[in-house]
Amino acid sequence: MTEPAITASGLRKAYKDKTVLDGIDLNVAAGTVFSLLGPNGAGKTTTVNVLTTLITADGGAVRVAGHDVATNPNAVRAAIGVTGQFAAVDELLTGRENLQLMVDLNRKAGKRSVEELLERFDLVDAARKPASTYSGGMRRKLDLAMTLVGKPRIIFLDEPTTGLDPRSRRTMWTIIRDLVSDGVTIFLTTQYLEEADQLADRIAVLDQGRLVAQGTPDELKRRIPGTHVRLRFATAADLDSAARIIAGSTRDDEALTLRVPSDGGTKSLRGLLDRLDEHSLDADGFAVHTPDLDDVFLALTGHTTEVLAK
Ligand SMILES: Nc1ncnc2c1ncn2[C@@H]1O[C@H](COP(=O)(O)OP(=O)(O)O)[C@@H](O)[C@H]1O
Ligand SMILES: [Mg+2]
Repeated sequence: MTEPAITASGLRKAYKDKTVLDGIDLNVAAGTVFSLLGPNGAGKTTTVNVLTTLITADGGAVRVAGHDVATNPNAVRAAIGVTGQFAAVDELLTGRENLQLMVDLNRKAGKRSVEELLERFDLVDAARKPASTYSGGMRRKLDLAMTLVGKPRIIFLDEPTTGLDPRSRRTMWTIIRDLVSDGVTIFLTTQYLEEADQLADRIAVLDQGRLVAQGTPDELKRRIPGTHVRLRFATAADLDSAARIIAGSTRDDEALTLRVPSDGGTKSLRGLLDRLDEHSLDADGFAVHTPDLDDVFLALTGHTTEVLAK
C-alpha cells in the first residue's frame, strides 16, 4: 500500500472562543477523490486552509504528500495545488496573461505551458480578453488551469462549482474526472450531495466543525432516504385507494400524501401514473424528490442545514 496522500488526526481550530474545527480525522488515499460535504459555515474552507498550510491549526497532526504541514510547509506547498473558494484570477489581466504569470512564477522543471492549458480548458478564444469579462464558469476554469501549471499531484478544490450553471458544473466535473484518471488526488469541498456522489470515492460530512459521517457514496446514501415520488390527493378516500394499489408506498394521512420509492426515471414515472389511471385516480400534486444535503443532515444529525445559517 502506498502512503495516503492526506492524513489528519485530531485537527482543531478556534477563532477567539468560537470552535471552528473540533477534532477532525481524515485519511485520503492517493489517486482518489475525497469530498468534504457540508453547508455554509461548517468549516470546509478552514479545513482546506489548514491542509494547504495557509493557516496553522491549534491542535492535531496533518501530513500531506508525506510531509508534516507544521514542520515542513514548503515541501507540502511544492506538492499541492489549491483552487480557492473565490477565484484567484487577476480581473485586469487577460486569460493568457494570468496563466503566463503563473508559469513565470513557477520554477518547477517540466511545468505545463500556457498554450497547452488554454487548449485543454477550451479557453483559446477567450485568452485575449480580460478575465473581468469571463463568465463564472470560465473564471473557474482559468483558476484551475493556473493551479495545474506546476503539475501538482494533490489538488484542493474549495467549492469549485458553487454558483455555476448546470452546464458549467458538468464541464468542471469532466475536468476533475480527467485529472483523476491522470492519477491526481483531489480534495474537494462541496455543498451539493449530487456532486460528491458523482465524483467522490469517499465522502465526509462536516457539521459545525465535526465529521458526522464518513464513507463511500453508497454507504452514505444507504443512511438517507432515497429518491421518491410524492403524490398528494384531494381526499382521504383517494389516498386510501392509492396506498392499496401502489406497492411499497408509505402514507401520510395528515398531509394526504403518498410517498413512493422510485428511481425518478421516465419509465417508472409513467408506470406509476398508468397505475393511477387504471384505477381512475387523480393526484392533486406530483413531485419527484432527489435527496439533497438537507436530507443528509436530517438523517445524520436530526437537524437540517438551516440551523447553521444563524
Ligand atoms: N478568520 C476567521 N475569523 C473568525 N471566524 C472565522 C474565520 N474564518 C472562518 N470563521 C468562521 O468559522 C466557521 C467556518 O467557516 P468556513 O471554514 O469558512 O466554513 P465553510 O467553508 O464550510 O463555509 C464560520 O462560522 C466562520 O464564520
Ligand atoms: Mg468555504
